[in-house]
Amino acid sequence: MTRFYITTPIYYVNDVPHLGHAYTTIAADALARFHRAVGDDTRFLTGTDEHGLKVEQAAAARGLAPLKLADQVVERFRDTWKQLDIANDDFIRTTEARHKQVVADIWKRIEAAGDIYKGSYEGWYCVSCEAYYGEGDLVDGKQCPVHKREVTWLSEPTYFFRMSRYGDRLLEHFEKHPSFVQPEGYKNEVVSFVRSGLRDLSVSRTTFKWGIPVPGDEEHVIYVWIDALTNYMSALGPIGGELHRRHWPATCHLIGKDILKFHAVYWPCMLLSAGLPLPGTVFTHGWWTVRGEKISKSMPATRVDPNRLGEDIGVDALRYYLLREIPLGADGDFAYEALIGRYNAELANDLGNLVSRTLTVATRYCAGAVPARSSERGEQAHVEIEQVAREVIPEAHGHYSGYAPSRALEAIWRLVREGNRYINNTEPWKLAKIHTRNEELNHIVRMALEVLVCVARMAAPVMPKTAEQILALVGMVGERGQEAMRRWPQADRFGHELELGAPLGPSTILFPRIDEARQAALLEAWIPEDARTDRETGDRQQATGNRRQEAVEPSGDEVTFEQFGKMDLRVARVLTAEPVPKAKKLLKLTVDVGEAEPRQVVAGIAEAFRPEELIGRSVIFLANLKPATIRGVTSQGMILAAGADAVLGLSAVDRELPPGTRIR
Ligand code: MSP
Repeated sequence: MTRFYITTPIYYVNDVPHLGHAYTTIAADALARFHRAVGDDTRFLTGTDEHGLKVEQAAAARGLAPLKLADQVVERFRDTWKQLDIANDDFIRTTEARHKQVVADIWKRIEAAGDIYKGSYEGWYCVSCEAYYGEGDLVDGKQCPVHKREVTWLSEPTYFFRMSRYGDRLLEHFEKHPSFVQPEGYKNEVVSFVRSGLRDLSVSRTTFKWGIPVPGDEEHVIYVWIDALTNYMSALGPIGGELHRRHWPATCHLIGKDILKFHAVYWPCMLLSAGLPLPGTVFTHGWWTVRGEKISKSMPATRVDPNRLGEDIGVDALRYYLLREIPLGADGDFAYEALIGRYNAELANDLGNLVSRTLTVATRYCAGAVPARSSERGEQAHVEIEQVAREVIPEAHGHYSGYAPSRALEAIWRLVREGNRYINNTEPWKLAKIHTRNEELNHIVRMALEVLVCVARMAAPVMPKTAEQILALVGMVGERGQEAMRRWPQADRFGHELELGAPLGPSTILFPRIDEARQAALLEAWIPEDARTDRETGDRQQATGNRRQEAVEPSGDEVTFEQFGKMDLRVARVLTAEPVPKAKKLLKLTVDVGEAEPRQVVAGIAEAFRPEELIGRSVIFLANLKPATIRGVTSQGMILAAGADAVLGLSAVDRELPPGTRIR
């Protein structure tokens, strides 16, 4: 059986959980849920980092003993994870006896390998980083390069870890295990750091007491990073014990980029010295800013409270947004408006509509019970929907396995949209009037329900509550529902998952649309008063289309210059525009493309533009797209617009040019 052991960093207890912590933990949770669903022997660990000067000082500032502070803050973390539906298998605190025992054990192993020696250390120390810096690392003379906080000069006797011994072996390990540090960009950073030469590491402190004593020398406490990193192992009990043998080495340490060096250099060197296997992957995710600013205690506007968002907009919506908005590994900027935008477009519209309309037709035409599929439905629409589902299942599987939940969701939403398109195109309400086509009507409803089952199961790692709700609505309750939740769908079973005649739930609105008034009220509640001016600037930016800084993944498919040259792109001017009857999203346009006669095109932009806004505008036009008939209207080309899902803007040229001008 494949093993999958994933960890989050353990969070310092000098701070309460914020969006950044929530992001790492939600991502790890989704990956763990996926691996459980595909049957891997999965373990997911999170916890808290409770020793060190930073925590000692934070406690002193509150007049508390460090453990007292830890006891209080740890409850905030536990509550937040519960509220955000985090299903961790274990929670480790570094003040627990089981942890201290393994830290002492690892220390002794490193010592036995001849890699610990006593010396003295002098240098500039940053308490926020809990690390020493060389003169050359400092910025503006005396500030640490990470926090821009004043560093202090410390001089103390210390034990050193002979890390310098392990540079070559580490480089060799990187070579042999190319996926040890992911994504690639971070790997290069680590490799060049190691290549520049590793120095021995000071691994004990005498200037404060809040830590684990060095075995055999109680004057010293063990450096907090040596202590903290060991949590990944100590949570499995004694080295060589049952849990340890079953789960070590960890498959993936998921971390933020701020702590890459500790995980990809210090930790593996410690393990090499202790003679223990190295983790499979250190996966570094990106950094969330809030309106371009780093999240920090001193700036209330950047402190996004995940509990509050979960309460107001739904935990699954928050989980979906965080994992869909940026690919794991890329940085992103958090904007409340973008959260609401995705909520409305992808949850309320795409998924919510599919659920409510499927159940509406099922209630109306199939007496609220799962209808039969018909065996021979060769028509294109029916074939296509099954095909898309069968493609998406392995595709989403591949993306989750490859630490790309954002792409997995993108693939799953292709099926959601295809489901909506299927209902639009097959028009079950029309068939209901023709009793000879009853069998086909049943088939359509059945397929739409099967799409819901499939979508729910694939989205379950990210949206567990929503998945459960959808499964209950389509009659998968009790053991059957539980089983469906716990298992990843099989492509060849698509279309055969539901039980004939099982009772269906009523048409339900899972994600009520957030209208403008509600949006205004939410923003008012979420954005602290002293940050409102920022918000207005943000609104202005949004109005000009500068909605968010979105990290975009390369598509992976390259085209040659020649292939690109085959596209006949031109300037076109819109001559007329009118709605297409009964098609909310479509407009019928005629455009001048520089030819003798105007062309007629159908464009899916009706939700973003009123017809009269378009007339006279110049747009970019793909003139050699194969003509198609959309809703009975011939479309001879395509106008280009911005926005992958919803239309966000229209393509344009920056000056008046005659229709037909080529674009290259
Ligand atoms: N205690 C150490 C980690 C020890 S692990 C052996 C620590 N703790 S922390 O509380 O500061 O949490 C750091 C982690 O929180 C980051 O690595 C990252 O996973 C997450 N994030 C904190 N702020 C973040 C953002 N603004 N954006 C994304 N994630 C961030 O460091």
